[in-house]
Amino acid sequence: MEVIIRPTERDCAVVAADIVERYVRCGATLGLATGSTPVGTYAELIARHRDQGLSFAQCRAFLLDEYVGLPREHEQSYYRTIRREFTAHVDLDDAAVASPDGTAPHPGEAAAAYDAAIAAAGGVDIQILGVGTDGHIAFNEPGSSLASRTRMKTLHPDTVRDNSRFFGGDSAAVPRHVLTQGIGTIREARHLVLLAFGESKASAVRALVEGPVAAVCPASALQLHPQATVIVDEAAAGLLEHTEYYRFAYDNKPDWQR
Ligand code: F6R
Repeated sequence: MEVIIRPTERDCAVVAADIVERYVRCGATLGLATGSTPVGTYAELIARHRDQGLSFAQCRAFLLDEYVGLPREHEQSYYRTIRREFTAHVDLDDAAVASPDGTAPHPGEAAAAYDAAIAAAGGVDIQILGVGTDGHIAFNEPGSSLASRTRMKTLHPDTVRDNSRFFGGDSAAVPRHVLTQGIGTIREARHLVLLAFGESKASAVRALVEGPVAAVCPASALQLHPQATVIVDEAAAGLLEHTEYYRFAYDNKPDWQR
């Protein structure tokens, strides 16, 4: 696992966009997260599309998760959110952006179909991830099997509370269930890039980077991945023990690895 610590959220977004851009130039399959964390990275990629002609035309994308019961047209459905915040602003064909069907009458079948669609596309090349304050990735809450596949999960009360800000501060309006890629599904992506910002993420970052690999912190599964990059600002890095080494390794990274 490579840990990159940058002074600000904006610096982190630029580092993440540099990594994603290399994949976009190869027409890669992108794994997209929603939530606040990747918004700066998406803004940076949109700017590169607009100002430098970075083209997404050969790419396709899979979302990590979707609320169960929210119709696609709902302002807070992840189907709609990713279009509003990212894909509608680049030349990525709308039909090439897939998400789990949160309104399917049989969520189990929709989940299996989603895993099958990812596999049929040849898998995800680069997966962007945020992390929950409770250590979740996608919506794999504490206790999720590290081998899990896409399935329905119940949100943790902390996640309901955290996400209520997208629903006008009303926790009761946040759906309780989601369809989410499993940890096993996510781990099949070829490169995992996890971003985290701010003091509120510091303890999750410590657990995922320096804690034991354990279902209680689903994000710790990144430790088992051969190509995982964790990009954090100073505040999110605040509880890490080995920061001196992470900074040294990044500063001395050979050019061919950048
Ligand atoms: C969203 C997702 C979640 C978020 C996480 C952090 O698609 O999968 O795991 O990445 O809840 O959310 P933010 O970025 O809003 O702090």
